[in-house]
Amino acid sequence: MNFELTEEQIAVRDAAREFAQTKLLPGVIERDENQTFPAEQIKELGELGFLGMMVDPKYGGSGMDAVSYVLAMEEISKVDASCSVVMSVNNSLVCWGLETFGTEEQKEKYLKPLATGEIIGAFCLSEPEAGSDATSQQTTAIDKGDHYLLNGTKNWITNGNSASVYLVIAQTDVEKGHRGINAFIVEKGMDGFVVGQKENKLGIRGSDTHSLMFTDVKVPKENRIGEDGFGFTFAMKTLSGGRIGIAAQALGIASGAYELALQYSKERKAFGKEISKHQAIAFKLADMATEIEAARLLCLKSAWLKDNGKNYDKIGAMAKVFASETAMKTTVEAVQVHGGYGFVKEYHVERLMRDAKITQIYEGTSEIQRIVISRAILK
Ligand code: CAA
Repeated sequence: MNFELTEEQIAVRDAAREFAQTKLLPGVIERDENQTFPAEQIKELGELGFLGMMVDPKYGGSGMDAVSYVLAMEEISKVDASCSVVMSVNNSLVCWGLETFGTEEQKEKYLKPLATGEIIGAFCLSEPEAGSDATSQQTTAIDKGDHYLLNGTKNWITNGNSASVYLVIAQTDVEKGHRGINAFIVEKGMDGFVVGQKENKLGIRGSDTHSLMFTDVKVPKENRIGEDGFGFTFAMKTLSGGRIGIAAQALGIASGAYELALQYSKERKAFGKEISKHQAIAFKLADMATEIEAARLLCLKSAWLKDNGKNYDKIGAMAKVFASETAMKTTVEAVQVHGGYGFVKEYHVERLMRDAKITQIYEGTSEIQRIVISRAILK
């Protein structure tokens, strides 16, 4: 067993760290406060190759492995989880889904600009009545010969307004249950496609989360992904890899909060010594460091499994549930270590605490991850 990173992986991690510290940290508090989408920063991330990290260079990607992706996601998320969710959705859900299951024409037309970051994408599964219960899609796509007619509403869509390309899951034959679901590539600007209200969120406030409305949108047949009825499997397989990205995001939120707490505890004095020298604080730091290390190992193992063509559904779900719970616990404790300062914005930990919560909800709640894990170990 080899726990050493390669030189290339270390270089990717260091480049992401440098970018996060120099380009994301300035202004992160204001973007959170004002719910400003980090458009400039996302553009730069694309130029650096971080939006199509695992995509084959022949489609404009960086051709890196999933381990590098986890390392980069951790570094970006330490500083700005609003930025890293855009990166995660574009890499894991949109680019991976298109590269793995798309036709050559779809890859040429859509994957290339997505992988270079020229445009960004969105993954549209959740609905007002179908979040965790993904088979209960109410959005319909009726086969009209050379096109499908798409009708319905999607909710909680990350990159809802900033995306140009949307992978939309819809029911095509209600009689067939999950085998009557398809995935479609929908372009912004298609007639009948309207971007709805922007959500005013607790955390990841810089990312733009919207509802989407489709009314008689004509989607060309060539925009269906895979064989007829492949949509549910497409969504499940894509989300399975996406969970590694969100696990890494949660890991980054946790390690970002931990590093701030560690630094603060060495500077702040109380009762005649640095607070890190009080066991009450030192033990908190020890627990944070231990859980973060365990979360990191799960994230890296799931990425390693993916890189080596092995099944990562169970370990990816374990990484997601453990890292997101670690993010929540660690950020709460990081605020506590900071005392009153932790409660004000300029110390960053209150934002990380708010950002942590969504990692237990999106791309499958913690309860969904436990369903995936328990089914895998009980089957
Ligand atoms: N890979 C391939 N196939 C899979 C699969 C996987 N990982 N998981 C399930 N399937 C297949 C099953 O084999 C089964 O196929 P067959 O009947 O042909 O054998 C079919 O899918 C149905 O599976 P289940 O009976 O297990 O389905 P279920 O209704 O019990 O649901 C679930 C399973 C795991 C709970 C699933 O519904 C799920 O993952 N729900 C959560 C959805 C989710 O993550 N939503 C988040 C939205 S996206 C988002 O948040 C992005 C963002 O903005 C950041």
